Amino acid sequence: METIFSGIQPSGTITLGNYIGAMKQFVELQNEYNCYFCIVDEHAITVPQDPIQLRKNIRSLAALYLAVGIDPEKATLFIQSEVPAHAQAGWMLQCVTYIGELERMTQFKDKSQGKDAVVAGLLTYPPLMVGDILLYQTNLVPVGEDQKQHLELTRDIAERFNKKYNDIFTIPEVRIPKEGARVMSLQDPLKKMSKSDPNQKAFISLLDEPKQIEKKIKSAVTDSEGIVKFDREKKPGISNLLTIYSIFSNKSIPELENEYEGKGYGDFKGDLAKVLIEALEPIQKKYYQLLDSPQLDEILDRGAEKANTVASKMVKKMENAMGLGRKKRR
Ligand code: TYM
Repeated sequence: METIFSGIQPSGTITLGNYIGAMKQFVELQNEYNCYFCIVDEHAITVPQDPIQLRKNIRSLAALYLAVGIDPEKATLFIQSEVPAHAQAGWMLQCVTYIGELERMTQFKDKSQGKDAVVAGLLTYPPLMVGDILLYQTNLVPVGEDQKQHLELTRDIAERFNKKYNDIFTIPEVRIPKEGARVMSLQDPLKKMSKSDPNQKAFISLLDEPKQIEKKIKSAVTDSEGIVKFDREKKPGISNLLTIYSIFSNKSIPELENEYEGKGYGDFKGDLAKVLIEALEPIQKKYYQLLDSPQLDEILDRGAEKANTVASKMVKKMENAMGLGRKKRR
């Protein structure tokens, strides 16, 4: 069975973008692959975090993974910092990564832009991510489009390590969903929907209450044409809403265009809000049941144990390949 690895940062409430671009795929793929899903808390601290809030976010993300349908009997769910191999691999991989490669990453450019003090971890974020993936002999990495560049770098670094040292790493492929690979902000449909957006109206969180969802959808930026039609260039706002609607209703975009022919944006938005509220209700219910349960800790303990077993073996292989430490006497 082939292996999948993917991670989500516990850096805020999970949005529809994270769900559509990543989590929804995870749930579908867990039946066919040996899956590792990670809460990448070490990545989250590359930007300032309040320690108390971070702990809450970690637990919240774990509960959400399960609430959307990740089955701990099928997939391994764990917290990155509870598996020390990730930081160890990240260091070794930093030593085969060029600064120039890291400076070219758009995520680094976006997050460091206009700041006078940039922590080193923001620049060396990708080798940690490369380690996440390579530790598990991962074949496939399901992510949203914004992570594509990091995945290209992962392949380059894996190939470089294999050539320079021993051929120990599997070269992973990226998997980006056909629809919803880049869910856009509700307030600026030319920008990606992001959980760290300071404008709360720009995103819908999986934990938003019905009233908030209704409000956010109603105030979503569209255009003045009043025609429900998909056109990413000319009508980015409506196109984004159509994509979201289509994913949550299982109706195709042309079907929805037909359904709303001759109707205004008001009707369309009202119905979309209803569809979203209905879809999120069971997820939220399950989430609140799990959040403080001992069952959640048991699942995370088991996940960390399994991940530790696999990842520590790979770290040993990396150390042997690079000549770190001593050879074990038999
Ligand atoms: P993060 O936490 O920013 O996002 C988690 C996942 O959600 C996807 N995503 C989106 N998809 C569609 N539309 C959007 N608006 C949107 N916003 C976010 C992301 O593409 C991602 O799949 N570096 C990663 C975390 C990471 C990781 C890994 C991923 C660390 N190690 C190893 C895969 C493999 C990140 O910041 O994701």
